[in-house]
Amino acid sequence: MQNSVTTVDHPLVQHKLTLMRDKDTALPEFRRLLREISLLLAYEVTRHLELKTVTVETPVSEAELPVLAQPEPCFITILRAGNGLLDGMLDLIPAASVGHVGLYRDPSTLEAVEYYYKVPQDMNRRLAIVVDPMLATGHTAVAALELLKRDNAGALSFVCLVAAPEGIKTLQDAHPDVPIFTAAVDERLNEKGYIVPGLGDAGDRIFGTK
Ligand code: URA
Repeated sequence: MQNSVTTVDHPLVQHKLTLMRDKDTALPEFRRLLREISLLLAYEVTRHLELKTVTVETPVSEAELPVLAQPEPCFITILRAGNGLLDGMLDLIPAASVGHVGLYRDPSTLEAVEYYYKVPQDMNRRLAIVVDPMLATGHTAVAALELLKRDNAGALSFVCLVAAPEGIKTLQDAHPDVPIFTAAVDERLNEKGYIVPGLGDAGDRIFGTK
């Protein structure tokens, strides 16, 4: 089985992503766009969430109406750039729990090494939405999903802004059961591991560190 890749082609998502890619887009504007696009991506990835029925008294009558079944989905951010997607996603689902995964690449073995890991306890009962703006080589995403599966995470999805074909292939090969949602699939990775055309270093652009 090969996991699905959904390119969120909504015109607002495409427009906002283009503005974010522009190297002259300043930090406040970049952050505002990121918040908005994250909300729209969260809308798409949660399209098939389970509902339950509750009784509500409207000003006119009593009615049986749908609400989200518990527990609500959780967001798992891959540090540090993943944090940039949280504000918009939490605007949409304010009750969602948030987990954090920190990984770095060991320069000698090139293996992803865990330096921080804290996720909700009931991962097996939730849709866990793993977020990282750039799916480049895919190695970090693969390692983060391995850690979550080790914790018996139930349903998993991966959301990014921009994906490279190389990263999609790596993720699909390692985790064929995890659907990928992205605003764009770009051309390729360059020799420095940046996505082309991409938007540069997402962490630096979100946090203003360069
Ligand atoms: N990480 C980024 O922030 N940007 C890229 O282009 C690739 C990886």
